[in-house]
Amino acid sequence: MKILIVGSGGREHALGWKLQQSPLVSEVISAPGNPGLAAIGRTVAIKAEDARELAAFALREQIGLVVIGPEAAAAAGLADALKQVAIPCFGPSKAAAQLEASKAFMKEFCVRHGVPTAEYKVFDEAIRAKAYLGDREAPFVIKADGLAAGKGVVIAETRREADAAIDEILFMRKFGTAGQRIVIEDFLPGEEASFFAICDGETAIPMVAAQDHKRAYDGDKGPNTGGMGAYSPAPIFTDKVRDQTMEQIILPTLRGMKAEGNPFVGVLFAGLMITPAGPKLIEFNVRFGDPECQTMMRRLTSDFAPVLLAAAKGELAAAPPLEWDARPAVTVVYAAQGYPDEPLKGSVIRGVPQADTVPDVVVFHAGTRMDSDGLLRADGGRVLNVTATGATLQDAVNSAYAGVNRIDWPGGFCRRDIAWRALT
Ligand code: AMP
Ligand code: GLY
Repeated sequence: MKILIVGSGGREHALGWKLQQSPLVSEVISAPGNPGLAAIGRTVAIKAEDARELAAFALREQIGLVVIGPEAAAAAGLADALKQVAIPCFGPSKAAAQLEASKAFMKEFCVRHGVPTAEYKVFDEAIRAKAYLGDREAPFVIKADGLAAGKGVVIAETRREADAAIDEILFMRKFGTAGQRIVIEDFLPGEEASFFAICDGETAIPMVAAQDHKRAYDGDKGPNTGGMGAYSPAPIFTDKVRDQTMEQIILPTLRGMKAEGNPFVGVLFAGLMITPAGPKLIEFNVRFGDPECQTMMRRLTSDFAPVLLAAAKGELAAAPPLEWDARPAVTVVYAAQGYPDEPLKGSVIRGVPQADTVPDVVVFHAGTRMDSDGLLRADGGRVLNVTATGATLQDAVNSAYAGVNRIDWPGGFCRRDIAWRALT
């Protein structure tokens, strides 16, 4: 079958890299794709949010399976459009995507179905929001309700900071209409982990867990980002925590979504805080994590295509199991100078093919473009993902940085301490 991957980041390149190895797959097409995906198969210039155009293209090309990368495509109704033309789609409907697209929806859903998460309240008026802070303790967690590219969360240490965040989101509309409402929730102490389950509306298959690094600079300093690196396995995510997560979070969510008429198909990504009282849900995402996906694809040894197809068709219970390499994997994100605030575009990147030849290293493209002069240039915030596996996590880290060191890109920066928590 032909597979259409929707999206243009490192996550999509990693999915394409994995899926093109499947004997079931004749061609991996991507929309809009990136230079890494272009080396695997055709790319078509259709935006990820253009559900109608994508569905029409999928129909014309007789695509056997569409895999949705970014949440924006799901929130734009891509799965719904594909359903109309009877093309199997791995990714949630617009209604199911609310688990990520609206934090208020997600929190209210958790209360309805007993999913453990931080206590919270929703506000659309600054005065009431500020009054509520008076009853709570610092640090305060303030979130824009809607999609804000991972930037809509402020952890405020003081009342003053919290008040300012409320004003910026509700009044100044720092995140546009995503900030028409805010969620204020209690701070959860603990260590974070990302967990993923493949879902077909009824059945869920757990994947391995990963941990990422959200802050921009070494030592977990600097602004929050989409993720500067990831490693898997996550030592904190024991089998016991996995079972608790499935029982207390993933399965009640699947049952709840089905009962409410919005069965969840796709990958359910639980951002977790591992607290002394067990895993608690920070957020749901309705897609693979980026860069966690890149890391996981390096550890997945079994064929992914039949599992994604079975999920799309509601036949996951009969799908072959996922098999994982016991060896750890790591991803180092190479970002453009200025990321996350104002990444500089257009700087020339050399040495990616050389990095790719380092044993155990695979480089995924995230925000790159290939110009007509044949030069690779930065074209986004997170630009390259250097991934590696190794006999130990330290070996994987060493190989990844050996790859990074082959890349000649003065316009970029990366953290030098990816996986430090698991190595110390
Ligand atoms: P989110 O976009 O909801 O994942 O939030 C971004 C980041 O903010 C998370 O990865 C956490 O590091 C942090 N965070 C969000 N909510 C909480 C919370 N209730 N307690 C502690 N940290 C949080
Ligand atoms: N790395 C976290 C995310 O994809 O949202």
